[in-house]
Order: sequence, then C-alpha cells, then structure tokens
Amino acid sequence: MTVDSTAPSQPAIENLLAERRTFPPDPAFTAQANAKASLYEEADRDFEAFWARIARERVDWTKPFEQTLDWQLPFAKWFIGGTLNISENCVDRHVKQGLGHKVAYHWIGEPGDTRTITYADLLREVQKAANALKELGVKTGDRVAIYMPMIPELPVAMLACARLGAAHTVVFGGFSAEALAGRINDAEAKVLITADGGWRRGKATPLKPAADEAIANAPTIEHVLVVQRLGDAAETSMTEGRDVWWHDIVGRQPETCSPVPVDSEHLLYLLYTSGTTAKPKGIVHTTAGYLVGTSFTHEMIFDVKPDDVYWCAADIGWVTGHSYIVYGPLANATTGVLYEGTPDTPAWDRWWQIVEQYKVSILYCAPTAIRAFMKQGEEHPAKHDLSSLRVLGSVGEPINPEAWLWYQQNIGGGKTPVVDTWWQTETGMILITPLPGVTTTKPGSATFPFPGIEADVVDNEGRSVPLGGGGYLVLKRPWPAMLRGIYGDPERYQETYWSRFPGMYFAGDGAKRDEEGYFWLLGRVDDVMNVAGHRISTIEVESALVDHKKVAESAVVGKNDPLTGQAIFAFVILKAGVEPSDGLGIELREHVAKVISPIARPKFLMFTPDLPKTRSGKIMRRLLRDIAEGRTLGDTTTLADAGVVDAIRERSGAAEE
Ligand code: WTA
Repeated sequence: MTVDSTAPSQPAIENLLAERRTFPPDPAFTAQANAKASLYEEADRDFEAFWARIARERVDWTKPFEQTLDWQLPFAKWFIGGTLNISENCVDRHVKQGLGHKVAYHWIGEPGDTRTITYADLLREVQKAANALKELGVKTGDRVAIYMPMIPELPVAMLACARLGAAHTVVFGGFSAEALAGRINDAEAKVLITADGGWRRGKATPLKPAADEAIANAPTIEHVLVVQRLGDAAETSMTEGRDVWWHDIVGRQPETCSPVPVDSEHLLYLLYTSGTTAKPKGIVHTTAGYLVGTSFTHEMIFDVKPDDVYWCAADIGWVTGHSYIVYGPLANATTGVLYEGTPDTPAWDRWWQIVEQYKVSILYCAPTAIRAFMKQGEEHPAKHDLSSLRVLGSVGEPINPEAWLWYQQNIGGGKTPVVDTWWQTETGMILITPLPGVTTTKPGSATFPFPGIEADVVDNEGRSVPLGGGGYLVLKRPWPAMLRGIYGDPERYQETYWSRFPGMYFAGDGAKRDEEGYFWLLGRVDDVMNVAGHRISTIEVESALVDHKKVAESAVVGKNDPLTGQAIFAFVILKAGVEPSDGLGIELREHVAKVISPIARPKFLMFTPDLPKTRSGKIMRRLLRDIAEGRTLGDTTTLADAGVVDAIRERSGAAEE
C-alpha cells in the first residue's frame, strides 16, 4: 500500500481551475495509443467507407453484408444483407482463438464473495442458459424481460437471449413492480428472468416479491426463471408451473447450443428510458451496427489492450452497462470487473480497495460518484495503491471542472487521461469524447465528436451557431449504433427526435462550443431531469404524485444539486379538505418511490394552494425552477394570477427535506 502525499488539496485544484489548464496527451501514451488522429481524416473523407472497413474487420459474419447504409431519414439500416450472431462474436470466437482461459469477469459480491468467470465458463453458461430458455418456449423474435441485481447471471441471460435471436429488455433492479409491469407489457415479454434478490448496503434485498407483483399485471409472462442469490437470507415463494429456479433448469441443460444467425437489423434489445411524457419509451437497438459501434468506441476511447483490467462501474440495467459492460468489452475479449454493491459499503474506500486488489487499469463511472468521493475526502483513495490505473472515464451528466480535476489528481495520480464521454440510451455508443493519446483535454469539456460523427450546435431555427456560442445539440448524420426507433411507435420516434429541427437528430441537450470548437454539454433542455446520472421525466413523477388519492395536481422541476447534479423538487396541490403536514409530505415521497423507483423520490416537496400557469393553462416550469432555486423571478406577465407566485414563495422556506 502506498500513500500518495502529493495528492493536491482543494486550493491547488482551484489554482488549476483559475489557470484554465488544458491537458495535452502525454507523448509516451500517444506512442502506444490505439486511437490515431488519422481516424478523423479517414472518417471525414467517406464516413460510410470508414464504418464499412471497421465492420469488416471487427465482426465475424455468418454472411457478409452487401450494402453499408440505407438512410431513409429518419430510418437507418446498417450493414444490409449481413447475418451474424452477437453472442458468438462476444464469446465463441475468443474461445476458438485460444482465449478460453482468459477472465471475462472478475465478479465481486457486496458481502465479499467472489467468482471468476473465464471466456470458456461464459461460453458454457450462455449455451446452457439458452437451452433453458428454449425449454421455456423462447424462440427467435420473442422478447424476454430481465430484472436482476448485478450478478454474473445477468450478462449470461442477455447473451443467452441474443444467442437465440430473442430480444432482451433489461429493467434496472431498482425499479418498482409497477415500472417493471409497464415495460413487460409494452414489450409483450414471454419470460421474465429475475433473482431472489441481491445484497445492497449490507442488507439482503429481495427482488422476487416485486417481480411477482409485476407479473400479476403482466399477462404475457408465461414463465419466470429465478436465480438464487440470497438463498436462506430471503423468503422466496415460487408459483408452481410458472416459476423455475435457474440452478434447476439451467443446471441440467446440455453444454452446447448453436447460435442462431440473424440479420444485421434483427432486434437485439429494448431499453426503456424516460422521455417528456409519462410513458417511458422502448428504445430499439439492432444487432450489427450496435456491435460495430460499441466495440470500436470501447477499444479506441478506453485504449483497451489485451492485458487491461477494465471496470465500468455502472449498473447493467442502464445503457452504459449494456454497451460498456456487456457487448463492447466482451466483443473485444476484455477482462472486466463486475461489482454488486454500492461505493460506501462496507466503507468509502471499497472501490479503491477493488482497484488495488484487481489492478484495475481503466475505470469508467459517473460524475455523481466522483462528487460523492470528493465529499468523503481524498484520504479514502490515498489508502490504496491506484498506480495500475491508466485511463479514467466519465459518463451520464456534465462533469464540473472541479470534479474532473479531483478525479484526475486523486484517482489518476495526476497522470492519466480523463475521457468525458457524451452519449445517450438512444445513441447506443459514445458520440462526443476525447481520444486518449490524441486529444488535448479541457476539464469539463467532452471535447469533439468521435470520428465519423457529425455533431453541431444550432439555434432555435436550426441554424448552426458560430464557435463561441451556445444552443441545441444535434447530430447530422446516422451512426451504426443509433436507435432504430421507439418500439411500436414510429410516429413518436419521428416526432421526438427528428421534427424539432428537420433532418437532424435532436438530443434534448443544450451545448456550447468554445472558440477552439470544443463541445461543452450544458444539460437537458426538455422536461427530463438528470438525477445522479439517471434520466427521470418530470411528467412521470407528476403522474405518480397525482396517482395518490390526496393529490389534486402537481408540478415537478429539477433543482441544482451539488452532489446529484439535479434534485427533484415537487410542488403539490392537495385535494379540497386535505391538510398539508410533514407526515403527508413523507408519505407522498414514498409513494413516488413505490410507483417508479427510489431514484425518483422527490428530495424537496412543497404544498401549494395553486400553480403558476399561462393564460392557456400551461404550467410555467421556468418560474417554478426559479422558485426552487430561490432565484429572483423573471417576467411573469403571462401568468394567470400573479398572486400565486407570492403564495408559493412564502412557503418555500418550509420546503426542504
Ligand atoms: C446526459 C447515458 C453531459 C445528457 C449514457 C444525455 C451527459 C443523457 C454526458 C443521456 C456527458 C450523458 N456530459 N451530459 N458526458 N453523458 N449525459 O440515456 O443529458 O441515461 O442526454 O445515457 O445524459 O442519459 P442516458
């Protein structure tokens, strides 16, 4: 163990900030880097030819593709005519090339139990699980819902679906029964794969009861496959004829199961994400383009080499886990770390202990985690030898320069490149990012579009804003891992992403570019909040509140928060005759946690007699945001009743949790 006495203190970081320092690549890193500046030139010359080359080089095709791209705006098809199986590309081919002994995942349970899964193990387990799914009636083209903690059976389940050409829809284990049921119903999933529970913050946390509650309202589910993680630590009831234990059915399956070759555009998975309405959208991802995009970006942006130990600390339930824990890294035969628990259990140095023990060389996490570590103090990382780290990544929300510098100095020893990566569930792969060894970074900027990606910042009319100015982030060209649509709703797809600025993909984010063309992401410009890197729609939370029998109306806004980026602030109008009280405030917050997820529980809740509305009846969220932030109010002349604002403000002192 080494203690780095040179870790800079906060004033030192402030000096760095004041200097507006830039970080050119270290020549020693550049000399060995996977990414080369020439990639930008190659992609600029002919972006289709660029992606075609990569697709030919990286994918084992069962039938080669004939055409690179068919672009009928906004509907894209990539690598047309090709067939492949993604599980074969992620597992079988590595074993065939002699990498069966290589570790695919070092799994670490929160209580300290561990499992080592090699590529040979993964191949065997995926085939057995695929055979079990077949026995349960799953066929090519079906959908399978997955609701699990962070255990090795989760990636195994995803790959088993993909092996059969069945689409998975993973629902984050922290979501409620109601949220799970909504997703199962939209996807019309036939089988649910879940677990008795997992370990979280030192406690056995059951999952099966929520799964049962969901299935009661999800008639398409025929069978439930249940992994035993907690065993005696949970009481799990199984429904005869419907539920089967994973170890019973998977355990007795044959160890081989041929991968089903599917079309390049075959549905790989659905992942539901919050939009600007109460109903989450099923984002559609297909097979070949997604594999090409995630594996190539993973190798270039994280500079992954055969000996690296790579740890993406997201949950597989989010897109970051799909693309950069499962598909991208496995396609590259990477050794990864998979950790079940939270960063504070049993103590705040848990991550750093894992980095030291497994010699993690690449770490990818969210600014929220970094800010939480900053708050706990640099003594926690300083207790451990973190010298194995050579690349650090950030994702999910804008990273403030202080957090960027703290990360680089205290975790990266002041020497590692930091890659701040911008992307979305919809984009499937990272789109705006530095390339380590190539890009000079600026703390807080995601820098430039990845080779082959055309991003721009436009004004209200869709005109490109000159360098130095801000506006809306748009993408002007298709990319291989892009969403193919919203499940079952092509009109909503067109409307949500392609109609605000005709011909361009509207990401929903604000951005500015500095004089040197660096992109600086400014957060969402729509009714989506970003709380600790999780996307939550204001309207979803409002619907959950109004769903409570004592609530007449509500309005929800995101309030700036030093730790979680944004925090949820709910304004609530009670039904006539109901008296506001602290107890009711707690009850309503809990209600939201139950209906959606604890991640959506409002941090602030204010009872109000009315809400500020325009004459046409629209809630004035901008005004509510100002109230939530305690800012001086702007122009209120479109208000129906200006007195409402005063009434709300008078109460705002009592709003904090
Ligand atoms: C935000 C997560 C700034 C952004 C991969 C985007 C970011 C939303 C960054 C997508 C970043 C993600 N800098 N903002 N590096 N990365 N975002 O779908 O608002 O969960 O639209 O995908 O997160 O969130 P999602």
